[in-house]
Amino acid sequence: MTTDKIAVVTGTNRGLGRSAAIALATRGVRVVVTHRGDAAGAEETAEQVRAVGGTAAVLRLDLSDVSSFESFTSELGAQLERWGASRLDVLVNNAGVGIFGPLETVTLDDFDTVMGTNVRGTFFLIQSLVPLLAQGGQVINVSSSATRHTRPTTSVYAASKAALEALSRNLAAELGPRGIRVNSIAPGPTATDFNGGAMRDDDGLRQALADQTVLGRVGEPEEIGDAIATMASEGLRWVTAQRIEVSGGALL
Ligand SMILES: NC(=O)c1ccc[n+]([C@@H]2O[C@H](COP(=O)([O-])OP(=O)(O)OC[C@H]3O[C@@H](n4cnc5c(N)ncnc54)[C@H](OP(=O)(O)O)[C@@H]3O)[C@@H](O)[C@H]2O)c1
Repeated sequence: MTTDKIAVVTGTNRGLGRSAAIALATRGVRVVVTHRGDAAGAEETAEQVRAVGGTAAVLRLDLSDVSSFESFTSELGAQLERWGASRLDVLVNNAGVGIFGPLETVTLDDFDTVMGTNVRGTFFLIQSLVPLLAQGGQVINVSSSATRHTRPTTSVYAASKAALEALSRNLAAELGPRGIRVNSIAPGPTATDFNGGAMRDDDGLRQALADQTVLGRVGEPEEIGDAIATMASEGLRWVTAQRIEVSGGALL
């Protein structure tokens, strides 16, 4: 299946960003794969997109460097032109950082890194790219099930994602009149490199988390990628300002 849609996915060199890129490509969406320095990982993602019959281009994007967003936007515009398009359809704000620890151990640097990536960088990237988003385009922000439930050591990360969800709802109201939808996808624990790969590699933790879901296991990256691609599809064109949790029913 092919469409003429184009998506930018942040943090696409591995993990959920890679899964989202492949799932979008499977549905005929051309993907701009971005990375903050891991060019080899991004090229591997682009190869996997091509392997499913998709089209990919690779660009560098570091969310901590807001001053680079202007040049990123120009490079993106040039890529759209190479593809014969002038507008972007989907922005998936996937890139994110989690730093976990009790209140006393959180440093200013930790706090600034988490907020700077998950909130500040994402907000200003949306600001930069909205002029390129087509009427009918959309922003999908990757949040976390952690905004709904609580765990000790998760305060800063959960607060950053809660801020992202609030951004999503308010920007949905602001951008709706321009035909742009804004939604959040909130994954539960999923087996990636995230949090040192614990949800993939630590059998004890995996079992404990599995026991907290009604479907009885930890999520797989492809399941989050599919949810993001489904959110991007025409079938959900009347959905905006929503948070969809993709957690197998964690901590209900
Ligand atoms: N896995 C889970 O259990 C889970 C659950 C809920 C929500 N999430 C959210 O899902 C998203 C993806 O997580 P993941 O599981 O794929 O984690 P991951 O494997 O740790 O990947 C994180 C991605 O974000 C990128 N990134 C971090 N800081 C960045 C920056 N300043 N600029 C650009 N890219 C940056 C990373 O790039 P580098 O490779 O260069 O570090 C990497 O591509 C995150 O927003 C995370 O909070 C994950």
